[in-house]
Amino acid sequence: MKVVQPPLVLSDALLIAKGRHRACYQYPGHPELCIKVHIDPRDDLETIREVRYFNWLHKCNVNLDGIADYRGKLPTTLGMGYVYELVRDYDGQVSKTLDHYSRKFELTEPRINVLTSAYQEFKQTFQRHYISMMNLKAYNIVFKRESESHGRLYLIDNLGSANLLPLSYFFKSIAARMLQRKFRRFESLVEERYHFSINS
Ligand SMILES: Nc1ncnc2c1ncn2[C@@H]1O[C@H](COP(=O)(O)OP(=O)(O)O)[C@@H](O)[C@H]1O
Ligand SMILES: [Mg+2]
Repeated sequence: MKVVQPPLVLSDALLIAKGRHRACYQYPGHPELCIKVHIDPRDDLETIREVRYFNWLHKCNVNLDGIADYRGKLPTTLGMGYVYELVRDYDGQVSKTLDHYSRKFELTEPRINVLTSAYQEFKQTFQRHYISMMNLKAYNIVFKRESESHGRLYLIDNLGSANLLPLSYFFKSIAARMLQRKFRRFESLVEERYHFSINS
């Protein structure tokens, strides 16, 4: 006999944050995971594309440091739920986005140094493993505080390529060039929008 699991109940109390397309919830009983559901259920193409790339990265055993990994999907009361690693700070709080830190905090030199060194490490991981990404945005990266004076960046959205034929998945030289473009563009975006250099 096949046992049918009822959909997982997601309530407002579990909501972490909403983006433009998805809402991110705590996974009850799994503090290290989150579940993302689409605000408009017809709007799931981007996630399906991203999941396909995650499956490929898993198959190839690619190192996924610097990325909130994908863990699978399950039905919820708010539609199909996509499960990812939830990034948390050393004190257990859900990590906040780079956009949050860049806007809400006075960017003193020591704080900028913490962000720039986390950024160097983040950038190197993608370059070393030729991992494809779409345009980088500060609200799609979270800063995991690992101590009072050190942290790491994690990409939480927009992994993979939107190209119909994602050549960057198969050709390292194409991936390397694409990454260089994405990082350069991101660095100028940070300069323009938040008025500091993340690449020093
Ligand atoms: N893995 C995660 N760890 C911590 N916070 C997250 C994580 N994923 C998403 N969030 C929070 O939820 C927000 C929306 O999630 P996101 O996946 O970016 O949705 P959208 O696809 O709509 O942009 C993010 O901006 C971030 O604040
Ligand atoms: Mg987002």
